[in-house]
Amino acid sequence: MTILEAKRLSLSYGGSTSPIFSNLDLMIPKGKVTVFIGSNGCGKSTLLRSMARLLKPQEGSILLDGRNIAEMPTKEIAKQLAILPQGPVAPEGLTVLELVKQGRYPYQSWLRQWSSEDEEQVRSALEATHLSELAERAVDSLSGGQRQRAWIAMTLAQQTDSILLDEPTTYLDMTHQIEVLDLLFELNASQGRTVVMVLHDINLACRYAHHIVAIKDKQIYAQGKPEEIVTESMIEAVFDLKCRIMPDPLFGTPMCVPYSKGRLSGDKQAAAKPDPVMLH
Ligand SMILES: Nc1ncnc2c1ncn2[C@@H]1O[C@H](COP(=O)(O)OP(=O)(O)OP(=O)(O)O)[C@@H](O)[C@H]1O
Ligand SMILES: [Mg+2]
Repeated sequence: MTILEAKRLSLSYGGSTSPIFSNLDLMIPKGKVTVFIGSNGCGKSTLLRSMARLLKPQEGSILLDGRNIAEMPTKEIAKQLAILPQGPVAPEGLTVLELVKQGRYPYQSWLRQWSSEDEEQVRSALEATHLSELAERAVDSLSGGQRQRAWIAMTLAQQTDSILLDEPTTYLDMTHQIEVLDLLFELNASQGRTVVMVLHDINLACRYAHHIVAIKDKQIYAQGKPEEIVTESMIEAVFDLKCRIMPDPLFGTPMCVPYSKGRLSGDKQAAAKPDPVMLH
């Protein structure tokens, strides 16, 4: 089943610039983890933002559970879909707690004030991101990784069925990268939430994604299961990078090992023979 659908979508910034996407069709499977990959500037953030109505399409539409988001009230969208954009900036002096509380705004109204349910969701979002101790700190006083986790906490507090995240692991150390991705995995596996994210780490993308969408030249170059689409030729075409694809030793999912310079590079790479157990 599809939860989000782009139909004949055209996106651009300003009238005279050439479109980033034209006539794009894309379906995001419900209750799955979908990852967008592609080189810098290919349009991943643009596409993700349009799916959350942060960017208005020139043409075409985005359907959320079959309904055109252009015609839905903002709060209704925000109850179903949360987005963590790339590089968000918090107002000066705003505390972590205040930021995470913002995630509850779709549930507030003049009829319904702050409730124990709101309190509980904020508490559990802070706990899940290990930020309870930093709740009173100003967001702009945190390290890049702590700040990123504060934004993720706000997204979680929104308690939506669909969560869109643009490079949620940027700035995070390896432990926190895995922790955030494991958390999203749990939300998907145990609660069936749909996760759509942009990741630059292909190997982690292959571990977590049910569905990968590879973008190149203003189009979808390939999409499908990581095992089916992440090949040496796809990586070369999409990223202009030569690599070997090998099975991840822990998961068996495709693992991309790029050719590069390096301390011991020359001989070893020249000697590298095709591996008979390679995936492709
Ligand atoms: N606000 C803007 N105004 C004009 N052009 C923009 C704007 N934001 C992005 N672009 C352009 O649109 C194209 C796609 O940008 P986008 O941010 O979607 O790329 P991306 O795939 O997310 O890249 P990255 O991996 O670097 O985050 C780029 O050429 C970029 O320069
Ligand atoms: Mg981006």
